[in-house]
Amino acid sequence: MTQKDKTNTAILISGTGSNMEALIKAAQNPDYPAKISLVISNRPKAKGVETARKLGIKVEVIDHKSFETREAFDQTLTNCLEAHNIELVCNAGFMRLLTKEFVTHWHNRQLNIHPSLLPAFKGLNTHERALQADVKITGCTVHFVRNDMDSGPIIAQAAIPILPNDTALTLKQRVLEVEHQLYPEALKLVASGNIRVVNENALISKTYEAAAPLFSLPLSR
Ligand code: GRF
Repeated sequence: MTQKDKTNTAILISGTGSNMEALIKAAQNPDYPAKISLVISNRPKAKGVETARKLGIKVEVIDHKSFETREAFDQTLTNCLEAHNIELVCNAGFMRLLTKEFVTHWHNRQLNIHPSLLPAFKGLNTHERALQADVKITGCTVHFVRNDMDSGPIIAQAAIPILPNDTALTLKQRVLEVEHQLYPEALKLVASGNIRVVNENALISKTYEAAAPLFSLPLSR
């Protein structure tokens, strides 16, 4: 696949950027349908800024603190994305709520990853809440972004068992491991044109074999 056939993609981060790193590494494969050409961080000191630079990706820091309004910050984000001819935006640990204008502008062109099986446990502290609810399976979800937080057509999900001795930290680590597998698969589906949104459902093309969801079966106790 030539560089110009690939979908020009940006990643928005605020922190560690381990999902960003997984996406960048997946996109190094010559056959991968997306090219990661830009990372934007709203936090100058985010660890992911350094990681992206080391991986040779262009990074722009747009510090939300230097904007008076959310609208002004989001407009600067869009301007920056468009200046780089970005077609798809992947939120990866981007900890800012986005304005309606931004979400509408990037409708079906903006993905997010959330560390739970949506619609369960939207928002923060997902692993603590999953443990408290005593659910037996959790996981992660990649979805198109809509105005309501952590909602939107679901592109892909991966499930893992919750083990008897799990803590919020062990769960976070094990969910992150599957996030790193799931997000590149989900971006691949979207960037290759194998997802259509119909009536707010993300439909996967029948011909796309790699669309099988990832599962890890419960371990015996
Ligand atoms: C991930 O758990 C992601 O699902 C959530 O924020 C975390 C970001 O981690 N939205 P990282 O910055 O990708 O390491």
